[in-house]
Amino acid sequence: MKKFISAQDASNINSLIERALAHKSNPLANQELGKNKTLGLLFLNPSLRTRISTQIAAKNLGMEVIVFNVDKEGWQLEFSDGVVMNGNTSEHVREAAAVLGQYVSILGVRSFPGLTDREKDYSEYIINSFVKFSGVPVVSLESATLHPLQSLADVVTIREIFGTGRKPKVAMTWAPHVKALPQAVPNSFAQWINAWGDCDFTIAHPEGYELDTAFTKGATITNNQDEALANADFVYVKNWSAYHQYGKILSSDHSWMVTTKKIEKTNHGKVMHCLPVRRNVVIEDGVLDGPNSIVVQQAGNRVWSAQAVLEQILKSL
Ligand code: CP
Repeated sequence: MKKFISAQDASNINSLIERALAHKSNPLANQELGKNKTLGLLFLNPSLRTRISTQIAAKNLGMEVIVFNVDKEGWQLEFSDGVVMNGNTSEHVREAAAVLGQYVSILGVRSFPGLTDREKDYSEYIINSFVKFSGVPVVSLESATLHPLQSLADVVTIREIFGTGRKPKVAMTWAPHVKALPQAVPNSFAQWINAWGDCDFTIAHPEGYELDTAFTKGATITNNQDEALANADFVYVKNWSAYHQYGKILSSDHSWMVTTKKIEKTNHGKVMHCLPVRRNVVIEDGVLDGPNSIVVQQAGNRVWSAQAVLEQILKSL
């Protein structure tokens, strides 16, 4: 594996899942693999889970890790070509990425979208610049449109809980939020579930919240949340801003919040969320604190999925 920025970079999702679960059983079995190798983690935006789980994964493989919060500690980066840099940006990504490639063996990058210019965000110009100019494998720590490390942990969690032999019914539902959030997590979850092909997959959202069909094609899509949740084995809850009316909040309908009453209509459905989650806005306390919530197990699995990805990249160096 030379980069990990999309489900398309995973040649075999089931074998990545198996490796992740193997790392969970025996975290330190491959400590020699990353010896004398360095992982650089570049954050243009905040993070709790991705930052810490990826560091632990790398250390489990014997790697050194350097974390760099570009948003707080770095020079402001320029991504456009041919510009006269007489404004606020101090360093071009052409040099920054190439220099980082001299220092580290693998580079992780987190870069959220601006949510004002869809074409620009969906071009993935930030992460693609690091892929192009760093000269080392790049791992997405969540880009403008996708969050593959999260999605791999999500499918690992579904497999861990549900096992093999039957297809679980998975419902992803939009829920309200106070801020306009990216589409990266729902795009990515849909992309991975569709590529995995091991689930009966439904997406529910209010009218106007249709995602890019490049990611959702193959899923059943409905504006009826009750219909989607009925008999679901897994309920993936997430807010996102509109894709077509790009970055807009079109609804804050509280009736879409996931409550204990709604979960009673599922097939003892396990409730997933990538976190952080706003309690009693997105999901009710009773659900998050109840027996159906697997959000902490899901976040714990971020370590093992990152370890499976880093292992595969290290083997290709
Ligand atoms: N789910 C996730 O990516 O969490 P962080 O933003 O805290 O890394």
